[in-house]
This record gives sequence, C-alpha cells and structure tokens, in this order.
Amino acid sequence: MPNISKMYFMTAICFLIAGILVGLKMSIAHDYAAVGAHAHINLLGWVTMSIFGAFHALNPRGAETRLAKVQYYVYTGGVLVMTPALYLLLTGNPSLEPVVAVSSLIVFAGVLMFAAIIFRARTA
Ligand code: HEM
Repeated sequence: MPNISKMYFMTAICFLIAGILVGLKMSIAHDYAAVGAHAHINLLGWVTMSIFGAFHALNPRGAETRLAKVQYYVYTGGVLVMTPALYLLLTGNPSLEPVVAVSSLIVFAGVLMFAAIIFRARTA
C-alpha cells in the first residue's frame, strides 16, 4: 500500500473516533446542536479520506506524485480546521463563522485537487 494511503487511513480513523465521540456526547446530553459537526467529521473525515486512501491504493503510480502529497496536506488541513470550528460555531460561538467559511474553501480546493488526480489517472 502506498504511504499516502496509509496516511489517509490513519487520519480517517482518528476522525471516525472524534465523530463517534461527538455523537455519543450528543446522545448522552440529549443536545443535538452539534449534529452538523458530527456529520461533517464523519463524512469529510472518515468516509471521504478512506475513499481517497483506497483510490491511491488502487492507483499506486499516481500516489507517488507531489500533487498527491500536497493534496493530502491541503484537504486534511482544511478538515482539521473546519470541523472543530464548525462544532464551536454550532454550540454557541458565532464569531467562528469566517474560520468555517475560509476552511470550507480550503477543503473544496483539496477536493478539486483530488479531481485532478482522478482525471490524470484516467488518461495515464
Ligand atoms: C457510535 C457512532 C455514532 C453515534 C453515537 C452517532 C450519533 C448521532 C446522533 C445522536 C445524531 C443526531 C440525531 C438527530 O438529530 O436526531 C446523529 C446524526 C447523524 N449522524 Fe451519527 N452517530 C454515529 C456514527 C455516525 C457515522 C459513522 C456517520 C457517517 C459515516 C454518521 C453520520 C450522521 C449524519 C449524516 C447525521 C445527521 C442525520 C440527519 O440530520 O438526518 N454518524 N448521529
């Protein structure tokens, strides 16, 4: 398995643990204000990162490129800032809205970079 796949799976499982902890906290407290953060931690973190890792494992040649590495850091950095900021925003910190907005755009940039990785693999 390429190193970038392992990095993606290790990061993804950390997000799943964090997402489940937020889900358990909501269930125990009967307070569902953070449901949007819970869903994004699980879906942008665990699900999407696992898919990125699996894609690289299936296309090991594309996994060794500089674009793949930069994409990992852009996407992961964006999700790492966006999800805690979203959690805090939804639980009563409206001042964090600009942080959520900017980090969401960074996450989107990471997704567009992954689109380039996919299309390059198809034409290789
Ligand atoms: C032990 C693990 C989990 C617990 C305890 C948990 C708990 C919760 C709770 C309490 C809610 C709020 C329900 C409500 O608003 O009525 C919720 C919503 C949600 N969860 Fe989880 N969850 C878990 C795992 C996951 C995973 C693995 C995913 C995705 C891969 C996920 C995705 C979602 C989504 C998308 C929603 C929003 C659903 C909606 O608003 O209709 N959850 N979860």
